[in-house]
Amino acid sequence: MALRVAVIGSGPAGIYTAEALVKQSAEPVQVDVLERLPTPYGLVRYGVAPDHTSIKSIANYLRRVLELPEVRFLGGVTLGEHVSVDDLLGAYDAVVYCTGAMVDRKLGIPGEDLPGSVAATDFVNWYCGHPDVDPGRFTLDSPEVAVIGVGNVAVDVVRVLAKTADELRATDVPHDVLQRLSESQVKAIHMVGRRGPEHAKFTLKELRELGDLANADVCVRPDEAIVLGGDFPRQVQGNIKVLQSWAAREPVGRPRRLDVRFWLRPVEILGAERVEGLKLERTRLSQEGRVVGTGEFETLPVGMVLRSVGYQSVPLPGVPFSDKTMTVPNEAGRVRDREYVAGWLKRGPTGVIGTNKSDAAETVRTLLSDLEGRDRVAARPIDELLAERGIRPITYDEWLAIEAAEAELARSLGRGERVKLVGLEAMLRACRP
Ligand SMILES: Cc1cc2nc3c(=O)[nH]c(=O)nc-3n(C[C@H](O)[C@H](O)[C@H](O)COP(=O)(O)OP(=O)(O)OC[C@H]3O[C@@H](n4cnc5c(N)ncnc54)[C@H](O)[C@@H]3O)c2cc1C
Ligand SMILES: NC(=O)c1ccc[n+]([C@@H]2O[C@H](COP(=O)([O-])OP(=O)(O)OC[C@H]3O[C@@H](n4cnc5c(N)ncnc54)[C@H](OP(=O)(O)O)[C@@H]3O)[C@@H](O)[C@H]2O)c1
Repeated sequence: MALRVAVIGSGPAGIYTAEALVKQSAEPVQVDVLERLPTPYGLVRYGVAPDHTSIKSIANYLRRVLELPEVRFLGGVTLGEHVSVDDLLGAYDAVVYCTGAMVDRKLGIPGEDLPGSVAATDFVNWYCGHPDVDPGRFTLDSPEVAVIGVGNVAVDVVRVLAKTADELRATDVPHDVLQRLSESQVKAIHMVGRRGPEHAKFTLKELRELGDLANADVCVRPDEAIVLGGDFPRQVQGNIKVLQSWAAREPVGRPRRLDVRFWLRPVEILGAERVEGLKLERTRLSQEGRVVGTGEFETLPVGMVLRSVGYQSVPLPGVPFSDKTMTVPNEAGRVRDREYVAGWLKRGPTGVIGTNKSDAAETVRTLLSDLEGRDRVAARPIDELLAERGIRPITYDEWLAIEAAEAELARSLGRGERVKLVGLEAMLRACRP
């Protein structure tokens, strides 16, 4: 009898896990990939920026895994809502949790919950057309916006804010979102780092793209671009060089302006009914290397604050979770007997898509070595259980019908290859007419 494994989540970690199971297993294996959304690929579909089409094309690799005869996609099935851990352990020989990191980390400063203070997770979900966020959610009516954080997500958010709607027309951005972007009043974007250029988390390629924006001047203050010492990794040296070259150039009067700021930490988001400003404190590093305030403050007159300070995993019901690391405790991917973890849920929200491949391979090595020679579980098929509960999973072919409807929508609107359908209803209409 084949080894039956349930993979929970169809992002890169989930799909690389399915692939590694098929490739590494010496005996026949059957993998079900259970996904809460009707659509696969996780953040490749609902995170990677719409204008990064070459990165998005990783989906073409992932799709080949879902098309393997040993692998089955079951969309619209949520662990914790439709099925429990016990259900899964009764239906499969092993379970691998790959549910990523879905929520934002908090700043913990006053005013964080004011209208206009927005988590990057929500903003990214909005422009990516995630069904959790209404396309009418954001109106870009403030001339000045602050983005807190200097990681690659902050860079994505800044780029989407800085570009014109026309520049994003050929992407898969939902049509209602494109309309909102075309009405944007944003003139100035402030991207704020709490440490120096040498500590920024963005990568060189992504940083350079900001300097090529046709619609925005990029400005860096010469005093904030100064970096002491010089023994930095190549990536960091590259970042510093680019930022210092921007500090030496004058704005040329493009419609928007991006200020990349350093050594400033947010202390309060100001406003009575909604965001009216962002109070920042200048920082320095203490002798122990910690960020400390200098008591010198400045206020940015922004009407929107986008908090891009990292993602965070959420606990899955019935699965161990560490509130300290915000991950599932594991040893080389093993959580407990017959339970495993991979991807962002295993190691936290860092690394690029490819990092999940080696990560998943490690988990699968552990799983296969644990299960080698063990009796198979007297399983009750998951299909039976789902049918009993009135749940009809979205099949891979139904997902392909959603994709086809997105390509058709793009054609009818005279836009690129596809335009995202938004909302579960629209997706269900497309695949179950
Ligand atoms: C905004 C953003 C942009 C990025 N851009 C890039 C980029 O350009 N290049 C790059 O290399 N990396 C990029 N990354 C990083 C990359 O996306 C991650 O490394 C990768 O997606 C993590 O994979 P994962 O499978 O662990 O999580 P995810 O991709 O988040 O996949 C998790 C999946 O689990 C599903 N799920 C969640 N809960 C449940 C549940 N209870 N039951 C069933 N299913 C569930 C989710 O719907 C999702 O499909 C980006 C990350 C972000 C946040
Ligand atoms: N194109 C791409 O390849 C791409 C695109 C998007 C995302 N990704 C990847 O996805 C992962 C997540 O990216 P991310 O940008 O969300 O996270 P990240 O790389 O961890 O960056 C988070 C940023 O937030 C700052 N920050 C954290 N807490 C803060 C606080 N309390 N106040 C002020 N600033 C704070 C951090 O500063 P400190 O350093 O001082 O903590 C850092 O600048 C990364 O591995 C990233 O490379 C890749």
